[in-house]
Amino acid sequence: MYNFTLHQRITRICQQQGLLLSGDDLGFYTRLSANATAIESLYRSLYSNHLMADALFEQLLITLIRGHQQRNKELRARDITKANKGQWFLSNEICGMSLYVDRFCGTLKDLPARLPYLESLGVNFLHVMPIFESPAGESDGGYAVSDFRKVDSRFGTIDDLRAVQKNMQEKDMYLMLDIVLNHTSHHHEWAVKAKNGDPVYQEYFYMYDDRSIPDQLDATMPEIFPETAPGSFTWNKESRKWVMTVFHNYQWDLNYTNPSVLVDMLDNILFYANLGVDILRIDAPAFIWKQLGTTCQNLPEAHTILRLIRQCVEVATPGMALLGEAIVAPKEIMKYFGTDLYTAKECDVAYNATQMALQWDALATGDTRIMLAAQHNLLQKPFGCTWISYTRCHDDIGLGYDDSMIAAAGFNAYEHRKFLKEYYSGVHPSSSATGALFSVNPKTQDARISGSLASLCGLEKAIASGNEKSIETAAKKILLMQAQSIFIGGIPMLFYGDEAAYTNDYSYLTEEGKTYDNRWMHRPVIDWKKNEKTKEQGTIEHLIFSGTQKLLKLRKQLPVTGDYKNIHWITPHNIHVAGFIRSMDQDHLYCLFNYSDKAAYLTWYAFKEQGFGVTNLYDHWNDQRLSVGADYEYLIIEPYSFCLLEAISY
Ligand code: GLC
Repeated sequence: MYNFTLHQRITRICQQQGLLLSGDDLGFYTRLSANATAIESLYRSLYSNHLMADALFEQLLITLIRGHQQRNKELRARDITKANKGQWFLSNEICGMSLYVDRFCGTLKDLPARLPYLESLGVNFLHVMPIFESPAGESDGGYAVSDFRKVDSRFGTIDDLRAVQKNMQEKDMYLMLDIVLNHTSHHHEWAVKAKNGDPVYQEYFYMYDDRSIPDQLDATMPEIFPETAPGSFTWNKESRKWVMTVFHNYQWDLNYTNPSVLVDMLDNILFYANLGVDILRIDAPAFIWKQLGTTCQNLPEAHTILRLIRQCVEVATPGMALLGEAIVAPKEIMKYFGTDLYTAKECDVAYNATQMALQWDALATGDTRIMLAAQHNLLQKPFGCTWISYTRCHDDIGLGYDDSMIAAAGFNAYEHRKFLKEYYSGVHPSSSATGALFSVNPKTQDARISGSLASLCGLEKAIASGNEKSIETAAKKILLMQAQSIFIGGIPMLFYGDEAAYTNDYSYLTEEGKTYDNRWMHRPVIDWKKNEKTKEQGTIEHLIFSGTQKLLKLRKQLPVTGDYKNIHWITPHNIHVAGFIRSMDQDHLYCLFNYSDKAAYLTWYAFKEQGFGVTNLYDHWNDQRLSVGADYEYLIIEPYSFCLLEAISY
């Protein structure tokens, strides 16, 4: 919608800031003109009653102009290449890995030398876990940031980061960094000023003289870390105020009802974009707006802020996509892709945490019905957006899918979750897993699960027992889990160490500032001697590395695995088998995963029900050719095995 007054205003500001109406500047001016009405109305819907609303809107526009002006030639060229590809992040050619620089290789300076290892695996996209300054001992793995622009000396310097980015760019690799939007460390300059009584910066946080509002908020806000950081407020003795701290007591929640916070954080976002970030992981966006009487999660205003950020990024630094790290219920997650007018115009990417957790569910139960019940929601993802598809990440596994999905599969939700918690913490008699419960809430008995991919799949116990058969079963489970997440659609995101079968790392129990958080058990310190074994045939490291490598290579070879709303789930012919078809034009890939410890029989009718007229298949995983049989015959899938069957005409 054209708005004459606004257009005049942006033209004036652009001129004042020395922008030319030609070349790249013209591109920027055009994008700003196109998005200005949306940006203004999103902004006004949040801040129209704020005294400083208009002045800060001007500041927001200037921030966008500066963001554009500070973008270098290479990044501007890359923006155009990406724009020409359309939604470049939907491609089957992108495969990611998430890693902690220090635990993976030491410092940022050491990272370039390790890139060939990642490339040989098939990884061309790196999520470098938080590296900005964060006080040791009160860091939450880097998610308590005390300076958004200074690389923590543990990892190196901002120049080292720039060098890594340049190196990756030359190799055509993509980079993801985090912006921790919801909170800062209490050592951040803003928090320090607030502690010292500066009223301007006290407005940057939620600070209260007494418990009356905190008590009301606490009554409806779920606790995130009930064991280690109960409640959502912390008493700050310097300012003599209660401060909102939804996560740990050293993480102070930013107050987005204050437009200065939004503008300052937008400036940080564009700073990251101009470091060459390809996908920005927006940490914990579900929490960024708070309102009395609510859970203070997933509120409409949180979506407004994300939409606003998205429209701004599209104007100033258009090549950077946004990942919303919302680990929320299935019906909530879809909203992070945008709704109504903003469909596919909010976050470009989100974690498919429901699918991830349901794969763990299926692995424990051998039953895929809940996974199937969840697809009704998950398939509503709009075209143009994609998932991060994963089995493990640095966080715990939450069992946050709906009770109704569990009920639809015929189970009792309470009993079912109880079984899963017992299974993965290794206490259930049928369990081969070694993990631990994380953040047990004594009031609700809710708990999440910690543990590495390999340990949760039984490798730790199998190695301890020395039983070859158990080691083989654990390896099959690991590859089954990886295969489904790599082929289901979305950007596969491996977690470092999983490619080399790392079991739980208990060294955190002696590391200061980590012992209280058992998520560290699945954040290993890499031993490169162990990783060398990925080249030695006959080792478990080689088995898992080469299997993962093959899966990524196949995905890159098969364009049908790109995420173009091109997935159909097969109706359940066998409750142990999760099956879907990835299709593009005349190409069809049947992906079938047997979660049971017994061979699964799948009627050949499953290949006919979609009416594709498939007669012959090539199994890319098992390297064999098959013919579709009669309806009374079966395809047999071995225990914890899978097939990736492409329809062929020869
Ligand atoms: C995100 C991070 C998690 C962190 C939390 C608070 O969920 O993934 O590790 O503890 O945000 O920043």
